Amino acid sequence: MVSFSEQVESLRKAAEEALKGASDLAALEQARVTWLGGNSQFNALLRQLGTLPKEERPIAGKVVNQAKSALTELLESRKDDLERKAALPKELSDFTLPGRRMRFGSIHPLTQVTNDIIRIFRKLGFVVANGPEIEDEYHCFDALNTPADHPARDSQDTFFIADLTETKAKKQLLRTHTSSVQIRVMEKQEPPVRIIVPGRVYRRDTVDATHNPTFHQIEGLYVDKGVTVGDLKGTVEFVLKELLGNEVKIRFRPHYFSYTEPSYEIDFSTSMLRKMGKEWLEIAGCGMVHPGVFEKMGYDPEIWTGWAFGFGIERIAMMRYGINDIRLFYENDLRFLNQF
Ligand code: DAH
Repeated sequence: MVSFSEQVESLRKAAEEALKGASDLAALEQARVTWLGGNSQFNALLRQLGTLPKEERPIAGKVVNQAKSALTELLESRKDDLERKAALPKELSDFTLPGRRMRFGSIHPLTQVTNDIIRIFRKLGFVVANGPEIEDEYHCFDALNTPADHPARDSQDTFFIADLTETKAKKQLLRTHTSSVQIRVMEKQEPPVRIIVPGRVYRRDTVDATHNPTFHQIEGLYVDKGVTVGDLKGTVEFVLKELLGNEVKIRFRPHYFSYTEPSYEIDFSTSMLRKMGKEWLEIAGCGMVHPGVFEKMGYDPEIWTGWAFGFGIERIAMMRYGINDIRLFYENDLRFLNQF
């Protein structure tokens, strides 16, 4: 007759083989139920312990328990192995295959908005012009009807470039607005003119949620025969609706710029702005080009009329994306940039 210990031993071997042979977690669980579960032969043997003669029981009990704990240990280690295997890719990677496209980054929100504005103006026949950021006083102020003693200069506290001012006939400075490029274009080109000028400008401003010493503008200049304020309003409305949606409202407020007459500031209103707690936000200066500017450029103001404007790009971007602090644009914080 087969002894109790021999029965335990043969069961242990069979169970061991089953646990080792399980090729995935489901098969292992199946083996556990069969060999170690409540209805397994192992448990049947444990129950038989009580029927053995008293003197055999301690040894038999020890044998069964040893076998059971050995099998439990094996079960755990097999489980670990199979779990690790399940987490691995099914097939080895071929690292010579062309890779999946990585995320290299995204276009900065200010650049996105600028590109969109350019695209909209292109539909209206405008072309992009550029000018230097280090500008001279003549192009930045004098040619725009703002001589040295003009009070309007005060509002554009300026970064002058000290070293160059001594040797150059014209003082140099970081341009305070993109309006200087109007002059550069008119110097070179006969009318008609239809340009926009995206670019960076500099002012001696304090830094807070809505101000920064450098920001971006987009300038526009349209010169032709019979151009009116009505064209200006229609153009601004079309562009802002394309940019910010049809619900945008605009209003023109009378203002003063030395290079336009009449001059206006443009305010706009959107639901996003109202959500941010404001009804109207100033977004641009504009007006009909002053005849004095045309005369300096050799354009006959009796023949040519035109309008010009300068928009703040940051403000448009803030409104479009619901950004409440201008400094976020310049901090290069990936948590911010990854959202665009
Ligand atoms: N240059 C002005 C500024 O920086 C904005 C501006 C006003 C531009 C009137 C223009 C204009 O072209 O006609 O605030």
